[in-house]
Amino acid sequence: MSCLATRSVLPLGRRLITSRARLSTAALGSLDIGSGNGMSMPPGFNIDVAGQPNKQPRIQSSSKIATVADKIHARDDLGKTMPPSFKAQVAHLDTFELPEKITGSASDRALGKAIIDTWRYEGIIQIAQSDLQKKLWNDAKAASKRFFRKPAAEKAACVDSQSYAGYIASGEEVTDGIADYSEIFTITKDLDLEEPRVRAKWPCHGPCPWPDVEMKEPMMRYVDNLGLEGEKILQLAEFGLGVAPGTLTQYTRDGWHHTRVLRFPPRNATNGKGKEGRGIGSHTDYGLLVIAAQDDVGGLFIRRPRDDEKFANWQKSAAGHKEDADGWFYIPPVEGVHTVILGDMMQYLTNNYLTATPHKVGLNTRERFVIAYFHEPSFQAVIKPINEGCGGMRTAPEQTEEGVHYGTHFTNMFMRNYPDRITTKRLLAENRYAKLSKPELRTMDVMPAPQLD
Ligand SMILES: [Fe+2]
Repeated sequence: MSCLATRSVLPLGRRLITSRARLSTAALGSLDIGSGNGMSMPPGFNIDVAGQPNKQPRIQSSSKIATVADKIHARDDLGKTMPPSFKAQVAHLDTFELPEKITGSASDRALGKAIIDTWRYEGIIQIAQSDLQKKLWNDAKAASKRFFRKPAAEKAACVDSQSYAGYIASGEEVTDGIADYSEIFTITKDLDLEEPRVRAKWPCHGPCPWPDVEMKEPMMRYVDNLGLEGEKILQLAEFGLGVAPGTLTQYTRDGWHHTRVLRFPPRNATNGKGKEGRGIGSHTDYGLLVIAAQDDVGGLFIRRPRDDEKFANWQKSAAGHKEDADGWFYIPPVEGVHTVILGDMMQYLTNNYLTATPHKVGLNTRERFVIAYFHEPSFQAVIKPINEGCGGMRTAPEQTEEGVHYGTHFTNMFMRNYPDRITTKRLLAENRYAKLSKPELRTMDVMPAPQLD
């Protein structure tokens, strides 16, 4: 990849874009060269030699330009990690570098605009990890490997009847009616049994059943750091959308941030519960941002925003969306980066100016480790569409006057994904779902009075 990290742009230097975005046209098995997506392209994009809309560098740094041969070689290398039997183009993403602090400077605003443009065109951005984040990711990845190597019974004991945190065995999660092969440890807000929301039996609220401190400490150090990154990205997105500061970040006070620590088995070593080669089926995620790090194995596919593909996952599940269709892009592993895709609430907030990113996971020939951090609104937040900025777009028909209650959307997703989990059964048995319509669950920063039952 180093020979692709060749082009800096604008006087913003390293804070804007440090590598060039290209789509690979290299022959990679069943490489798919689909048609363009029909979406109007943002400034800085045009059509490449293969007939694909493609982003062009604004200013070239002549001392760092790689040769054509270097670039083709690098594209081939990146595409080589694509799981077998999948049909996709290989995405070559720009890497953004975030400033240490967001001040609202001209460069922050330009960076925000570049991020929004890239999401609107690519559906995904790539961000350089800081040196600290590289260490935290490596420590968390090591903890993940240690956990997933534990005996099955020990892992299976890490469940909680009130929260959806804890262990999910390969084949337990369901996407669009088919079992996923991902093996997962989910981290939600870790609330003890005396916490008022837990005592009041709010859906999904409860402890995180950590296996041990060797798992908990490195995970929480990494996750806490990603929380800071998520806030920075939202602040930059506000500049890029042309909306007032706080328009997005007002929702993340006491955000329902959570994390999925994932292991994917090799495709030839599954338990047979799912579909051959399929790690996770096509879906969109439910909140604001998904910040992810992957190891060097490869397996993530996304769809770009397209005018001819509409979905509103908060109304009707988008699971299974175009799973077997053409038009997927493979996101190859690149060392030292996070990828950031968008969730349903960003789509809802921006009236479809930004759209949630459909994605799916393929199994590769080796086991694969990923950590995905979800930067989310408060569980209590009622999200309302923005009626400023966002290219002047206004409320779309699928938005409603009442807005979307994030806690209900989250609960619906988890009940749908884990129909047989003890948490779903208890939630239904105790009629906790009905609590989601209570005013105290729809007003941010309101804590319930403890219940003594
Ligand atoms: Fe996802």
